[in-house]
Order: sequence, then C-alpha cells, then structure tokens
Amino acid sequence: MKNQTHVFSPKIFSPSIQGLVTVLYYILFFAIGLTFGIIITFHSKNFSFNLQLTQFSLSTSSYPPSLPSPLSSSSSLSSRSSANKTLKSRVGLRDFVRPPRLMHDMSDDELLWRASMTPNRKEFPGPRQTSKIAFMFLIKQTVSFAPLWEKFFRGNEGRYSIYVHSDPSYNQSETESSMFRDRRIPSKVVEWGNANMIEAERRLLANALLDFSNQRFVLLSESCIPLYNFSTLYSYLMNSSENFVEAYDLNSPVGRGRYSQEMYPTIKLNEWRKGSQWFQIDRQLAIQVISDTTYITMFQKYCKGLCYSDEHYLPTLVSTKYWKKNSNRTLTWVDWSRGGPHPSRYSDTDATEEFLQKMRTEKQCKYNGNVTNVCYMFARKFLPSALDKLLILAPKVMHIKT
Ligand SMILES: *[C@@H]1O[C@H](CO)[C@@H](O)[C@H](O)[C@H]1NC(C)=O
Ligand SMILES: *[C@@H]1O[C@H](CO)[C@@H](O)[C@H](O)[C@H]1NC(C)=O
Ligand SMILES: *[C@@H]1O[C@H](CO)[C@@H](O)[C@H](O)[C@H]1NC(C)=O
Ligand SMILES: *[C@@H]1O[C@H](CO)[C@@H](O)[C@H](O)[C@H]1NC(C)=O
Ligand SMILES: *[C@@H]1O[C@H](CO)[C@@H](O)[C@H](O)[C@H]1NC(C)=O
Ligand SMILES: *[C@@H]1O[C@H](CO)[C@@H](O)[C@H](O)[C@H]1NC(C)=O
Repeated sequence: MKNQTHVFSPKIFSPSIQGLVTVLYYILFFAIGLTFGIIITFHSKNFSFNLQLTQFSLSTSSYPPSLPSPLSSSSSLSSRSSANKTLKSRVGLRDFVRPPRLMHDMSDDELLWRASMTPNRKEFPGPRQTSKIAFMFLIKQTVSFAPLWEKFFRGNEGRYSIYVHSDPSYNQSETESSMFRDRRIPSKVVEWGNANMIEAERRLLANALLDFSNQRFVLLSESCIPLYNFSTLYSYLMNSSENFVEAYDLNSPVGRGRYSQEMYPTIKLNEWRKGSQWFQIDRQLAIQVISDTTYITMFQKYCKGLCYSDEHYLPTLVSTKYWKKNSNRTLTWVDWSRGGPHPSRYSDTDATEEFLQKMRTEKQCKYNGNVTNVCYMFARKFLPSALDKLLILAPKVMHIKT
C-alpha cells in the first residue's frame, strides 16, 4: 500500500495540488459512471423494444391470447389493462396437474420423492378427470404381444396409460403407429431375482403416479396376455374395493427358507410372505410402496442371490402394513404345477379356445366379498410364437374387438 500511494504523497505535491488531484479523481469516476449508465440504459431500451415487437407479432399472428408467457406480463404495462393482466398471469393448477415428460432426468431418489407428494383430497377442483389404469410393462426389449394389446386398448383412449421399463441397452424405437412408442421411462438394468427388479417396479410405479389420473396400477411382463376385454377389466379393477397382491406364508425352503435373520427385528420370520410379482393395486397403496424406505433397505441389504426379492418384497410389506385391503391373490394366471424355477410356457399349440376358457373361468375366488369364477384378468407365460393364434382367438374368446 505504501509503495502504491507514494506518487501522490503530500511530500511531492503541495496541499492545493493535492486538492485538484482529488477533484480530478471525482470527475474521472463520474465520467466512468455516466458512460456505464448510458450503455445500460440504451441496452435495456433496446431490450424492451424487442419485447414489444415480439408481443406485437404474437398478437397479430393470431396466437391464442391466453398463452401464458412471462414476456407478455413484464412488457405489457402500457398495452393491457391491469385487470386483464392479473388474469393472464394466473399461475393456477394446470402446470402442477400436467404429468411431466416420460423421459425426465430425475435420479431414482428424486423421482420417488417427487412421486410421494400427492393430493390428500379425492375430488379435483376442476373439470372431472376420467380415472385411468396404468399398464406398466416390465420387459427386456419389446412387448411380445404388442398387436394383441393394441387391439385390447383400441377404443378406450383416455382410460389407460402405458409405461415401459426395458433394458437400457435396447436402443430401437417402435413404429410410428405403435401405442408403445415413446412410452419408455428412464430404465436401468434388471437381473432375474436381483433386488434391482423391485427397484424397477418402484420406478415404474413412481413414474405412473406422476399422472394424477392414474388410479389403478397393473404390472405386466412381456409374456403376459389379457384374458378379458378392456371394459371388463376396467370395471373389475375400478369397482374393486381390494388390492391384488398375492401373499401367502410358505413353510419350505423356497418360502420361509429365504428369510434372513439379519432382517430381524424390522421383518420377523412370521411376517415373511411369498407371492407373484405381478400385482394390480390402487393409488393409495402405490404411494405407500414408493414411499417405503425401511423394507426396501432390508431387501437391498439382506435379500440376495437365491432370495428372489421380487417374490417377497411386496407380499411381505403389504401383508404386514396394508393387509386390510389386500385380497392376497393376483389377477395374473400362471402354472407352477410342473415344478422348477420357471412356470410353464405356452406356444402356439397350447393356445386353444378350451385352454383360454379354462384360464378365464376355471377357478373360484372372492370379489368384493362375493364368490365369483372371474378370477384372472391376465395370463402368462406365453411365447411369442403364440401371437398369431391368440389374435385369431381374441374376438371369440376374450371379446376383444378387432
Ligand atoms: C380482456 O381481454 C379480452 C381479450 O383477451 C377482452 O375481450 C376484454 O374486454 C378485456 N377486458 C378488460 C377488462 O380489459
Ligand atoms: C444399438 O446398439 C447396438 C449395440 O448394442 C449398436 O450396434 C447399434 O449401432 C445401436 N443402434 C443405434 C441406432 O444406436
Ligand atoms: C362398475 O363400474 C362400471 C363402470 O366402469 C359401472 O357402470 C358399474 O355400475 C359398476 N358396478 C358396480 C357393481 O359398482
Ligand atoms: C390376507 O392375509 C393376511 C395375513 O397375511 C390376513 O390377515 C388377511 O385376512 C388375508 N386377507 C384375505 C382377504 O384373505
Ligand atoms: C354380493 O352379494 C350380495 C348379496 O348376496 C349383493 O347384494 C351384492 O350386490 C353383491 N355384490 C356384488 C359386487 O356383486
Ligand atoms: C367385453 O366382454 C364382455 C364379456 O366378457 C362383453 O359382454 C362386452 O360386450 C365386451 N365389451 C366390448 C366393448 O366389446
């Protein structure tokens, strides 16, 4: 500091010269300030002039005047009445209610948190929204029975939404007309039996929850087919007072044998349940599932290898905490009777009218407390080779219009 100021030190200049220098300094500062001021003013004038132009071109090119735009509200002071301005700049619920784009860049943690926020009131204070069923396909590459599903969905627009979780390495896209086009969600690798399977289920649920009109959530695999038409399924699910998460206590190596002592006391052995991974649940339960941080941590830590978390996570969680509304059964037909780690698979020769009818009505179960023989809405596992046969049988057996 001393070195820098020595040039103007009072030892060199007399007091009067020193005063002059100070005045010159002030003038210099003032000049710099003025220049800056002029530059800034000019630029901002230019800016607002541009805004006026934009606004003018908007209003002359017959854009809908209700277009909410921060530009117009900031520049329309002179051109619009303040009463109208208040209306134009109304924030409202629209942006909040509109589901975000499927391909977002939220991390799993951010997504689950975002999806756990939910209206506590049933009635929406606006136009009534049709309740939708979210069909969540957990697949490797493509939906094998896409042509059958498309026939199933057709004519029911507005009552369903589709979500696809596929292997991230799959980079093809569906044909222009496909209902599955652009329905993929940000996906991660899923391995059979691994905990990342239930992470994928929760990822699907969370994405589907972001659309507030989704009221029922159905998990499907690539080998699943519908057994009834859309309208029958829609009433079945919407009118049901129950959730469909299969859960049973099995005292064997493939049941309780998969329980890990390390989960105690969070999960006790007598709370351990087994069941099909393919569920059909309502919005309330879906929110509880994606909001769970306790059970999922236990499964990620202690249910590895031959534990198969996808067969135990939901059955155990739901049976312990949300059992009151659970039917303990699934709507997805499957045949484990041949034993082994995989259920029976069906090709074109198996796909017959008799077989499909059997799956549709063979069993008896309870629906809203009454006995019925309509217990299964879906069936697996079908091989892609069965597609043509199923397309032929669909109108006659499943009453799916073609
Ligand atoms: C508000 O704007 C609309 C056109 O957008 C116009 O018809 C209406 O008269 C305006 N109301 C007032 C109070 O200026
Ligand atoms: C898709 O991935 C494969 C490798 O998995 C690669 O050979 C191919 O070029 C990719 N195609 C596109 C369109 O990115
Ligand atoms: C079931 O839902 C349908 C609409 O999907 C409705 O027309 C019908 O009355 C409902 N049935 C019962 C028993 O609630
Ligand atoms: C489902 O299972 C739970 C116990 O796991 C039981 O408390 C409940 O009564 C069962 N519900 C039905 C409908 O069977
Ligand atoms: C169940 O049965 C009772 C009487 O048996 C009947 O009043 C009720 O409407 C039935 N519910 C359904 C959903 O069919
Ligand atoms: C759906 O199937 C049922 C029989 O399961 C039938 O009565 C109904 O007419 C079908 N609905 C449509 C829209 O085809």
